[in-house]
Amino acid sequence: MSLPKGKKHSSKVSATTIPSDIAIPPLEDLKVQDAVEEPLITPETQRVLLLHAARQPYELIRDYPVPQVQGDHEVLVRTEAIGLNPIDWKAPDFNFAIPSLPYISGRELSGLVVQSPKATSRLQLKDRVLVISTDYRDLRKAAYQEYVVAFDYNTVRLAAHLSFEEGSTLGVAFVAAALALGVCMGVDFSSILDGPDLYTLIRQIPSESLAPDIRDECLASIASHERATSGDWLAVWGGSSTSANLTIQLAKLAGLKTLTIVDKAKHGLRLTDHHAIRTDLLVDSHDPQRAVDIIRGNLKGKLRFGIDTRGRESASSLLQALAPGNLSSPSAAQEGSPPPSPPSTPHDSTRLGAHLIGLTGLPKGSAPEGTLFHAVPIKLFHEVPEVGEALCAWLERLLEKGLVVPPEIIDVEQGLESVNRGLDRMRKGEISGGKLVVKV
Ligand SMILES: NC(=O)c1ccc[n+]([C@@H]2O[C@H](COP(=O)([O-])OP(=O)(O)OC[C@H]3O[C@@H](n4cnc5c(N)ncnc54)[C@H](OP(=O)(O)O)[C@@H]3O)[C@@H](O)[C@H]2O)c1
Repeated sequence: MSLPKGKKHSSKVSATTIPSDIAIPPLEDLKVQDAVEEPLITPETQRVLLLHAARQPYELIRDYPVPQVQGDHEVLVRTEAIGLNPIDWKAPDFNFAIPSLPYISGRELSGLVVQSPKATSRLQLKDRVLVISTDYRDLRKAAYQEYVVAFDYNTVRLAAHLSFEEGSTLGVAFVAAALALGVCMGVDFSSILDGPDLYTLIRQIPSESLAPDIRDECLASIASHERATSGDWLAVWGGSSTSANLTIQLAKLAGLKTLTIVDKAKHGLRLTDHHAIRTDLLVDSHDPQRAVDIIRGNLKGKLRFGIDTRGRESASSLLQALAPGNLSSPSAAQEGSPPPSPPSTPHDSTRLGAHLIGLTGLPKGSAPEGTLFHAVPIKLFHEVPEVGEALCAWLERLLEKGLVVPPEIIDVEQGLESVNRGLDRMRKGEISGGKLVVKV
């Protein structure tokens, strides 16, 4: 959805600290979607897309069983629109993240609740929702089918002004952005519509509830005094992706200063012209070394946080732009004083480490002294209900108030049978700077 530019919201957003350059659409400009009045009858079988082997197209099957809810916190959702995610073509092409065959893919969708949870929940029958399916091992939760099971704490009620298509664009990107900022960088969202302070929240959860492979990232990857706060700089390499879009929106709401590195020939005007994702500095990615020089020259040792959305090569460039080992004294950082040599370890209470988060890969080898590498602990979202619920309830408020806007829809394909064509368009690099959506 393109929201009206440059206007301020007419209603009050209470008890929040919203940076002044965040423009919010007036409520009268928001179109209320039609209420759903049809009866809800769930069939026993449905159409799904099945993957039989790597490097094959998905096959449309017409009489596959509708998935069954199991626990008290599960809902059944009738799929209305699917947001195609790059993992949906990369996994079969490169044969990874396919835990069983035949497999059902699809990581984000919107639809209608046709079976509400047994437990007390935000969700009711017939709610219009978006479902964020990070739990890729559970085929009942995959998006490429007409009916999908989801935890209520992984499901977001859709604000009335948003269409199903818009709702299908921002699930995984929102979760990746919120966890990268909140867990890996320690950003506290509690002043923004009562958002989560994930850093504190995950420390209140018994550590054995955190999967061993993400425990260190959750509990030991950033010291309390190093947490990113308002005024800190964040660089996002690969600024055209939907993950970058949501990262920048959330970072700006939290008062961070943002810079993106992007192909300016393709995305320059679009990014500078967009109120929600306009950054403080836009750097062209064409010559990565020049990009590093521009960042270092402008920020003069103040950049401690970087998120890469493209891959190992650009993550390696971003590493060069980071400035580890700054003195924690604000005056030293502001004056751009060179860090004392050699920089200390990131857990030294007098120094601030640099933090590089890779969504798609990290530089080869271990991180240099004074810098920490991070991978986003995405499974927190579906494995720890407190985290899932906090993020979903917050996203509902952000969307309702227009503080987060969905990424641009590049095109809408019609019907499950068009998913293969859509994924081919993604393979060819035709979908850039937004989302390809399939209406089911
Ligand atoms: N680790 C995690 O938990 C996690 C979570 C979310 C996402 N991710 C990963 O982060 C990356 C970005 O995800 P996203 O959903 O934000 O991506 P996206 O919105 O689909 O955009 C990615 C960008 O990549 C470029 N691109 C498009 N098609 C391409 C192709 N065929 N080959 C190479 N580049 C292409 C485009 O940028 P340009 O036009 O500027 O080239 C596009 O804007 C993906 O690799 C995804 O798997 C990881």
